[in-house]
Amino acid sequence: MALKTGAADTKGVGVIWTEPDENGYRIFRLGEFEFRRDEYFVYITWPTGSHLMSVDAFLRALQRDVAWEFFYGIVNFDGVIGTVNHYGNVDLFAGRYNDAYRKAELDHVENFDTAAIKATFESMLDDWTNQGFDPFASPDETGQAFGVKRGSNTTAVTRQRVTATRMVGLPGDTPLRTDDNGFPVNRHFLDVDQDEPEVIAEPGFEDEVHAYNFFAYLSRSDVTWNPSVAAVCKDSLFCPTTEEYILPIVHGNDRVEWFLQLSDEIRWEVEDRDTGVKRSNVIMKPGDMCAMPADIRHQGYAPKRSMLLVWENGAEDLPELISSGKLSSYPVEF
Ligand code: PHB
Ligand code: FE
Repeated sequence: MALKTGAADTKGVGVIWTEPDENGYRIFRLGEFEFRRDEYFVYITWPTGSHLMSVDAFLRALQRDVAWEFFYGIVNFDGVIGTVNHYGNVDLFAGRYNDAYRKAELDHVENFDTAAIKATFESMLDDWTNQGFDPFASPDETGQAFGVKRGSNTTAVTRQRVTATRMVGLPGDTPLRTDDNGFPVNRHFLDVDQDEPEVIAEPGFEDEVHAYNFFAYLSRSDVTWNPSVAAVCKDSLFCPTTEEYILPIVHGNDRVEWFLQLSDEIRWEVEDRDTGVKRSNVIMKPGDMCAMPADIRHQGYAPKRSMLLVWENGAEDLPELISSGKLSSYPVEF
């Protein structure tokens, strides 16, 4: 089928696609990679190989890669396909962090300007997401990704990630969540107290003291596995999120991340970032805290909707400090 530059070219960045195929979906090309979907699967090909993924898992991973601007370090869609963020440009790879592909010399990497890969990924996500399927929702709270093309869900797939400038609920900053602004309490958090704290400031300090019910705020999250930035102090970012089912990506860290388990339970499978060799299984229960090292990749499993605080260090020089050995890949010596 003829490939052409599509009209999704909104930011002056060409997206190469075909007309819809027999299932109603476009085929996309980015460099030497080609992406195609049918009713159940996504097929990815590159000069030395090919790979397939279930379309629901693929769209959930793609959604996060796009919404997070390629995140910190590596976003593995699975053990084969993924992206590496170089903050300005992005590697798209197949088999690069997979020992078997590397040894067989079947791995493939191409580098793109962030705007180019983002435009292609956004078009693909929009074209391949059917009406009623929300890649950010838990599987129990959304429709199906499968089947021939059936409408779209542009509102869901272009949802903006919440990023506070200072703190949720401050005047001019990202708002609190309420029934009235479209964020009802989630079915698994109906027991979470919704009272807001009373703030009594010294006269003259009314604009400088702020508090809100953090658990109530989280109980009203409509998405899963999508850390929002709820409080910022220089490079210290508090990124709470509600989790249910499986983290749709396997995250390869380029810095240390701290996890504070606020409710329920998450199991983490932790592997070597570059080879995928197993490093540990971590079971986190309410109140548990852990630091994920900078040289691992991890994927979380949450049997019930749970509240997690991810504490990120946004400093730009961290990846270089760690890869050059000037900083250790773990944060504490005991
Ligand atoms: C992570 O990779 O550290 C991560 C990503 C998304 C989440 C939680 C943790 O929701
Ligand atoms: Fe991570």
